[in-house]
Amino acid sequence: MVAAMNILVTGASGLLGSKLTNILVGKGYNVYSGYLGNRPEYGIPIKLDISNENDVEKVFEVSKPDAVVHAAALTNVDACELKRELAWKTNVIGTKNIVKLSKKYNAFLVYISTDYVFKGDRGMYCEDDVPEPINYYGYTKLKGEEEVKGMLKEYCIARTSVIYGSVPASGKTNFVLWIIEKLRKGEVVNVVVDQYNSPTHNTNLAEMLSEIIEKRMTGTYHLAGATRISRHDFSKLVAETFSLEKNLIMPTTSDKISWTAQRPKDSSLNIVKALRILKSKPLDIQTSLKRLKHEMGFF
Ligand SMILES: NC(=O)c1ccc[n+]([C@@H]2O[C@H](COP(=O)([O-])OP(=O)(O)OC[C@H]3O[C@@H](n4cnc5c(N)ncnc54)[C@H](OP(=O)(O)O)[C@@H]3O)[C@@H](O)[C@H]2O)c1
Repeated sequence: MVAAMNILVTGASGLLGSKLTNILVGKGYNVYSGYLGNRPEYGIPIKLDISNENDVEKVFEVSKPDAVVHAAALTNVDACELKRELAWKTNVIGTKNIVKLSKKYNAFLVYISTDYVFKGDRGMYCEDDVPEPINYYGYTKLKGEEEVKGMLKEYCIARTSVIYGSVPASGKTNFVLWIIEKLRKGEVVNVVVDQYNSPTHNTNLAEMLSEIIEKRMTGTYHLAGATRISRHDFSKLVAETFSLEKNLIMPTTSDKISWTAQRPKDSSLNIVKALRILKSKPLDIQTSLKRLKHEMGFF
């Protein structure tokens, strides 16, 4: 019998990592679930600070990974703008440490990146379009990509966009759960009409990633939902799917919201490559929201 693969997932308590570890454990892999402060539910929990090279070294010694999915990051876009040192340490130094040890252990690395590496002036970005981040979060994630490309011959960079899922993770809600909660309470929500992305259901993303790991698919992939949509229209679809009052969703524009970091206007991703190559396809938004509703116990 062939021994099951050892897989290390960093950010295993997060929105993506929690779903991915759940799926990988279900497939029978030995999953090591890296986290910083919120103990993960699935896999073998293993605490580490990715910005500390000794921590990372110890985790690799224990887990001896065949594959690593590096999903840990400082993901709060405004926090990255305000706490630049922490963002750099986590997203760049942390990634450098993971890359170094992946190389040492000859582990296949999948680095999770973001649509925010793009400027956002036209949208539907392809894998080989030139990144030009407009905020510090996007800049640090791009530097992370460069660490991966600079040190490894074989790797996967998977860029995704606005992840949502059925339960809070890493102590935070997500956009869809936030909209549902507000509408259930009968509260008005102001949602921007001038920001477009490719919202991605964490289950769909985790399925695509497990295929990437199993087939050791190298290169850069846009793994995101198959629908380009504005935040406002997305919110309306959420309301429709969960039979909530969509008239509570008011249109607004980015210039009326006091975010610290600038947001790209249209960072939607072209997912044609993933559609063509993967068996687990990026799903359209209606299908994904129906799956989410099902996961949340509504039929
Ligand atoms: N969320 C999105 O909409 C989105 C969109 C595009 C790309 N991405 C990318 O997708 C990946 C996953 O995002 P996500 O939303 O699932 O993240 P998340 O829910 O915000 O979780 C972040 C994870 O990183 C861990 N972490 C943070 N700092 C760490 C450190 N110094 N050492 C070790 N672990 C640390 C956290 O651990 P604790 O919970 O224990 O603190 C948590 O598990 C990230 O790389 C992100 O850049 C996300």
